[in-house]
Amino acid sequence: MKVAVIGVGSMGYNHLRVYSEMDGVELVGASDLDKDRLQMVEDRFSVETFTNFEELFEKTRPDAVSITVPTSEHEKVATYALEKGAHILVEKPIAATVEEGKRIIELARKKDRQLMVGHIIRFNPAVQSLKARLENGDIGKIFQVFCRRAGPFPARIRDVGVVIDLAPHDVDVMRFLTGLNPMRVFAETEQQIHTDHEDLLFGLLRFPEGITGALEINWLTPTKMRETLVLGEKGLFRVDDLMQDLYFYENPQAIGELWSPFRAVRSVSEGSMTRFSIQRQEPLKAELTAFIKAVREGSPVPITGQDGLEALRISLALVESGKTHRVIEV
Ligand SMILES: NC(=O)c1ccc[n+]([C@@H]2O[C@H](COP(=O)([O-])OP(=O)(O)OC[C@H]3O[C@@H](n4cnc5c(N)ncnc54)[C@H](O)[C@@H]3O)[C@@H](O)[C@H]2O)c1
Repeated sequence: MKVAVIGVGSMGYNHLRVYSEMDGVELVGASDLDKDRLQMVEDRFSVETFTNFEELFEKTRPDAVSITVPTSEHEKVATYALEKGAHILVEKPIAATVEEGKRIIELARKKDRQLMVGHIIRFNPAVQSLKARLENGDIGKIFQVFCRRAGPFPARIRDVGVVIDLAPHDVDVMRFLTGLNPMRVFAETEQQIHTDHEDLLFGLLRFPEGITGALEINWLTPTKMRETLVLGEKGLFRVDDLMQDLYFYENPQAIGELWSPFRAVRSVSEGSMTRFSIQRQEPLKAELTAFIKAVREGSPVPITGQDGLEALRISLALVESGKTHRVIEV
């Protein structure tokens, strides 16, 4: 399969690296506006490079492309790629606005091409293991989901604020783990050091079935922190996204209650803690492998355009709530 990467900055470089090591994939082209960047990837991956992505399509006719340009450029490149008949993997968020995202989805449908959105956290093996355990009923009823995504300031991202850059990751994880869309959101945001956009968010999400969600996201923390917590009647799961670790803190009272139908009072107390053995793997490798498999087999992509659109829509509602100080029905 002939594959190309459009935009070889921080994320696009990693797409190139992963494709270059993949069986059955021929890396036919890479495009970027930055000539030094192109020279570097040409030397490293022996791939033909183009400053103009239209020329890349004309000359190399890729079957599938990764779109890893800045978010505000996603629609332009996705539209061109789909018009040229390529299957596309668009980095998250799907686009900068809901209207742009809808147009990409509609065109992919019209052209009958695969469209996947790069919500990479779902491919973290610890998150995958957590999802399987939730589906297995290991936590009983879910009470609450919490995600923390804090870290240093990425000077290169100028086109969007921290919410649109990072919240789609966590909103998508929350939707994936609960299988639900939130009904309403509220957020407090702040612009502490960014010149144009917010750089800090505390968000609350209300899901159906009595589930609450909370988000702590910022670009102001001098160390990277990535954490997902799912609290339920049988205990607490904790994912350390960076280490790909999954822990379970058991509530022995809930387990006792399940074993003894005669217990009248439900309670919570401290029980054993388990750190599960997780087969670690690079999430991007799993994501791009899933994309190529879906293209090759014509099977459904694991993360659809609609998933990407929901994550964007909810993240934009968080931005709006932060600006207006209102609860937003989503
Ligand atoms: N999945 C993840 O964890 C993750 C992480 C980082 C970024 N991203 C997403 O990936 C995308 C890119 O982010 P990044 O951090 O790599 O940004 P970046 O600025 O490092 O790279 C973007 C590159 O695109 C190039 N570019 C811009 N316009 C172009 C055009 N018209 N044609 C060809 N190249 C063009 C730029 O020169 C730059 O090299 C964004 O949508 C971002 O949200 C996803």
